[in-house]
Formats: sequence, C-alpha cells, structure tokens
Amino acid sequence: MTEDAAPAPWPYRALLGLQDLSAEEIRTILHTARSFAEVSGRSVKKVPALRGKVVANLFFEDSTRTRLSFTLAAQRLSADVIDLTASTSSVNKGESIDDTALNIEAMGVDCLVVRHRAGGAAALVARVVDCAVVNAGDGRHEHPTQGLLDIYTLIEAQMARLPAGPSPARQRLDRFDLTGVRVAIVGDIVSSRVARSNIAGLTKLGAEVLCIGPTTLAPRSLESLGCKVVHDFDAVLSEVDAVNMLRIQFERHGEAGKAAGPPGSKPEPARAEAAASPAFPSIREYVQSYALTPQRAARLRPGAIVMHPGPMNRGIEIADEVADGPRSLIFRQVTNGLAVRMAALYLCTGVAEREEAARLAASRN
Ligand code: CP
Repeated sequence: MTEDAAPAPWPYRALLGLQDLSAEEIRTILHTARSFAEVSGRSVKKVPALRGKVVANLFFEDSTRTRLSFTLAAQRLSADVIDLTASTSSVNKGESIDDTALNIEAMGVDCLVVRHRAGGAAALVARVVDCAVVNAGDGRHEHPTQGLLDIYTLIEAQMARLPAGPSPARQRLDRFDLTGVRVAIVGDIVSSRVARSNIAGLTKLGAEVLCIGPTTLAPRSLESLGCKVVHDFDAVLSEVDAVNMLRIQFERHGEAGKAAGPPGSKPEPARAEAAASPAFPSIREYVQSYALTPQRAARLRPGAIVMHPGPMNRGIEIADEVADGPRSLIFRQVTNGLAVRMAALYLCTGVAEREEAARLAASRN
C-alpha cells in the first residue's frame, strides 16, 4: 500500500469496538497500521514509539494469535510487556476484574490489553482505570483489532489486483474506502465477536456485507447491524470479493456442541454423525451447505480471497485444500495483525499519556 494524506487525530485512550467509531476514526487506525507495517520487515524489528511504557496482557480466556500478536506489537514499539495468567492469578480467589485491573495499573502500567469471555469486560476495565485499554475480544461482543486486520488484509489484496499506476480504484482503496466491495461472512455469526467488528468496520468503510449461515447461526435480526442475511451460500459464491469463514464455536452451543471435539480436530465419521450442536442437525449437513470446500472455492470469482480469523475447525467450516490453497490469506491476516495492534497500542497509549499530563497540569493550578 502507498502513503496518503495525514489522517484525522485519534481521540480515545480505549479501543473497545468498531461499532462506536466513525469511518474516519477507523481510517486513522488503518493509516497508522500502514505506517508501522514496514517495521516487521526490518532486520531490527523495533521503533522507539513506546519506549519506557509498559503494556499488560490481561487474558481471562484462551488465545494464541491475539495474545502473541499484542506481545510482539508492544515489543516492536519498544514497550515492556507483562502477562497476567488468569489460571494462576488472584481471580481464582474471587478478585473482580476491575480490582485486578486497578492493581495492575497501580504498578505503573500504561496500557491494558483485555480478553474476557463476558461481553463488556473491556469497557468495565476502561471505566475504572485511567490508562489505555484495548479490547482483545469480549464474549460475543467485539474483537476490534481482528476486524481491523481483516479489513487491512482485504484492502491489501484488492490493491494487489489492480493494474500498476494511478487509477480512481487505487485512490479509493488507498483512502481505505471499500465502496463497491462485497464481503461474505460465513458460519457461526451469532456467536462471533469477529463478525460484529467486521460488519461494523466494513459497512462504515462502504463495503457490502453478506452474512451467510443457517437461520440458527445467521438470523435475519443481524440485518439491524447493516448487513444482508443470506441462507443459500451457493447462490452468492460467484458474487463476492472475499469470503471470511468463521469457526463454529461449539463451546458456546452448550453440552451438545462438545460432541464435535476440540477446535482443529478432524470430524471423524462417527463424531460427524453425532449431534454436533443444537444449531444444526449434524456436522455432515452443515458441511454440505456451508463449508468452504474446494468445489465451492472453484466457483469464487477470479481474485476473490479467503480469510479465517482462526482457530480453524479444518474439515468443518473450511477444507484443508482451501485453507492452504492459493486464495487463502489466513497467514497474511496474522502478519497484518502486528501492524494493526502496533497502531492500536500506540494511538491509545498516546491519548492516555496526554490525558494524564492534562490531569497533572490541572492539579497544579
Ligand atoms: N483470532 C483470534 O482471536 O485467535 P485467538 O483466539 O488465538 O487469539
């Protein structure tokens, strides 16, 4: 991607979701991410932007990608990083999330990165502390940096398809304007904070979003978020520029969901025959209607891309051949996550620092 005009200033010390941001505020984060992207390509992958600052990861729910990505992003900005491991913390003695956050802030931490199984957890933390807060996924609510890295990856791929040289399409994408781009989000949308952040971010930037799945996982009520709900995946396959496949979150579907096995495990025939979730009759039927198989991938339009936020249920929502195939940008999403998280940490910590300076100045007067 190329450089464009300076973005609007970023006004918040907390990034809690994309639903409450304006298009210009979303563009400011993406613009800042673009400016940080080249750092990961240097032999010394560091800039001094957050030297002397401390970032704390407060992850009360499992994570591979997001936790490591925030850690690396903070390190690339030269911040120190500390990790709260919820399973061995005083949370297990009944300490509340706000008391935990206040104690960690009292150690001189500048930014809290919060993941929690409850929607609203990051907002709660942001209400009680004065430092920066970044939501790393709260329940079914939002996962803003995942939404942003998906959008960043989509724009990067759209630009790569354009002929060399200036054009209105290139100028539009360079401004993070997704007018005319159509994105399918497929699968367990009701359980998905990633879907909510994607729908908000994509529609604000001008894209058309189709949410695709059975009525139990993609109910018509989602249309209040600004997307269109479609139940026939095959009918729209050839009409979209990107397909973002979501994990079936069996763990959020109650006891019956456990029959499917852990994420990443193959759906053995016996298990696939078992009731996998109260949301659909069997994994076999789900795969027939909604999995991104090689046959479906072959019907996507030329240049259409495949994304997945991870972790993947290979063989359920996405086939191995597609996840590892030429349309897949799944690992590029992970790479772009670093630049996006560097931007989120840098912007929010900068605002928190300015607010703290203003409080100090006011207390002296
Ligand atoms: N995409 C995502 O949030 O992955 P993790 O749960 O591994 O962080």
